[in-house]
Amino acid sequence: MNNPGPKAVIHLNRLRENIQNIQTHIGDIPLCCVVKARAYGHGAGPIAKTLEKEGIRFFAVFSFDEALELRSIGIQSDIIIFSKIIPSRLFDAVENDFILNLSSMDDIPAFVQCIKEKGVSPRFHIKFDTGMTRLGLDAQDADKLFKVITENAKLRCEGIYSHFSTADEGELSYAHYQLNLFNSLVESGINAGIHFKYIHCSNSGAVLNLPDSRFNLVRVGMLMYGALPSDEVPQNIPIKPVMNYEGTIVNVRRVPKGTSISYGGVYKTMNDTTIAVVQTGFADGFPRPWYENGFVGYKGKEYKIAGRVCMDSFMIDFKKETPLIGDEVLFFGMTKDNHIPVETIAKSIESTTYVLLTAIGGRTEYIYIN
Ligand SMILES: Cc1ncc(COP(=O)(O)O)c(C=O)c1O
Repeated sequence: MNNPGPKAVIHLNRLRENIQNIQTHIGDIPLCCVVKARAYGHGAGPIAKTLEKEGIRFFAVFSFDEALELRSIGIQSDIIIFSKIIPSRLFDAVENDFILNLSSMDDIPAFVQCIKEKGVSPRFHIKFDTGMTRLGLDAQDADKLFKVITENAKLRCEGIYSHFSTADEGELSYAHYQLNLFNSLVESGINAGIHFKYIHCSNSGAVLNLPDSRFNLVRVGMLMYGALPSDEVPQNIPIKPVMNYEGTIVNVRRVPKGTSISYGGVYKTMNDTTIAVVQTGFADGFPRPWYENGFVGYKGKEYKIAGRVCMDSFMIDFKKETPLIGDEVLFFGMTKDNHIPVETIAKSIESTTYVLLTAIGGRTEYIYIN
């Protein structure tokens, strides 16, 4: 047994297929692939490299350092940084050719200062808040901002965007409200004389639910990783889970009926049974609340998680089965024998696919195949 800990097996062929299927669904509109938060727990470097080879020319990250990491491994495509600008790093952004986020009137002086000192502004997209109440300019500031931009030719405004808060829900009236507001902001900007190279509003939920929000760039995260943003979206694009999260059995023992397992002794064996230990725990991102109804996959069958998930390990009740030390079990994903959608876990523990996937890490070994 080389690695007794958790393994995230990343199927790059599934990533390529997912991207192709999303592209087929939306037609001839470029994708902005969202690879923030270690590509939703999949590893930003290998994911971005695979996507760039597939022809993707636009990436989104959250932090400046995530963007630098992509450049350091040779990613040449456009990279937009979603976070609030860091005024002291504006010239670094120019040097690395990053696209920043202008999300407040308060951001303007930093851009103007950069032009004054260095003669050049970083490229940026204007982010409007249309109802998420997070980062983004208020609609009432639009005309003021458009005036500043049209009066300063050195401000390199290349885009305008916003973000939906309910695009992955069954009830879409609020998303339509946000889209209408965004449309009117785009129109005002164009009427003010600004040419937006990129106009974007879509996320995975909108890809599935709101075809009118595609404009000329579609941001996509969760769908390309092969999971659904929620259980309310239409499942009209074939996708496969890019990550199989797995672990190795390191201990097997027979125990009598009535044996208590793990912290708190909340799990008591109903019969004489086989209990196996895997060395994956909540410190690796394994979802602790899943122990209540959770199971793992082994040789085509499902076996219950026995007792509370520990920091570094958890136990499995194999009943009459006698697995061997070194055998692999599937936590979520899809193998030739088992399929445990991460969506199933998210639903059961009232969490989301976003929370579950981005949590994966800790001592997890990443294995990239295909
Ligand atoms: C601004 C922005 N755009 C796009 C996305 C991608 O969303 P999704 O993973 O639902 O496609 C995110 C993710 O949180 C985001 O914050």
